[in-house]
Amino acid sequence: MLPVTTAPPRPNAGPPAPRLSGSPRAKIAAKTLRKDNYKREPLITFAVLTAFVIYSTFRAFYGKHYFAEPYISPFFSPPLSSAVEHAAKYGNIGVPPHLSWLPTTEYVFTPAIWILVIPLGFRFTCYYYRKAYYRSFWQSPPACAVAEPHGKYTGETRFPLIIQNVHRYFWYLGLVLNCILTYDAVEGFIFHRDGGTHFGIGLGSFVLVANAVLLWSYSLSCHSCRHIVGGRLNHFSKHPVRYKLWTWVGKLNEKHMPIAWVSLFGVALTDLYVYLVSSGVFSDPHWIS
Ligand code: FES
Repeated sequence: MLPVTTAPPRPNAGPPAPRLSGSPRAKIAAKTLRKDNYKREPLITFAVLTAFVIYSTFRAFYGKHYFAEPYISPFFSPPLSSAVEHAAKYGNIGVPPHLSWLPTTEYVFTPAIWILVIPLGFRFTCYYYRKAYYRSFWQSPPACAVAEPHGKYTGETRFPLIIQNVHRYFWYLGLVLNCILTYDAVEGFIFHRDGGTHFGIGLGSFVLVANAVLLWSYSLSCHSCRHIVGGRLNHFSKHPVRYKLWTWVGKLNEKHMPIAWVSLFGVALTDLYVYLVSSGVFSDPHWIS
């Protein structure tokens, strides 16, 4: 049995918690004693994430067909490319002119290159995705109770992985994008016809709303969000509002993994939907008043 020691006391932290010390891992020669197919999950993760990276790279470099009035792809929102040109072409819908100075091109250096820094940074540093790609891409380690294949394991305590701590700041930036995409979802019900604006409902309207809901769910179920809402408190009883919010966020947080996947598919499928409608492959079924 490992010896039990006592952690040094912290101010206002209550009685010290016992902790274990000694050899952190059992000395077992076998790579693992697991009998189940523990490689399957990392393989599936590898395949799905690779497919997403390929698709998003293609879309990031291909700056066309990201708008099908009134829908805009989440990869290209807010519209940074020539706001004036955009407004002249599609009507002045959700175009922030103050962003038009950013240099963009139709291919390779597209508006998506600027925009995707935030959602990709947010997902790349996400606690769940970190586990997923450490296991599937770096095999470090591939699963619980399976030996680390690399000679040395320093976790996230050193450069470059210590940079993962910026996750919280990407969370804040992600909230800004969520607000913009929510605005886009509302715009998805406003069609521009014959020089006027008309309320309308199309399949794309629902696609944009679903995407916004999923992205909000992803952000609100984030571990950083949970800490921002309920962390650094000694007494929940003195902060009933934060306690209530923390319990709501905690319930969402339990589902963070499935939400992470569904919202990833959601954002890619939303872009694909706009792409197909914009390029004429698919006709958006809609009703306009
Ligand atoms: Fe996954 Fe923050 S932990 S988004």
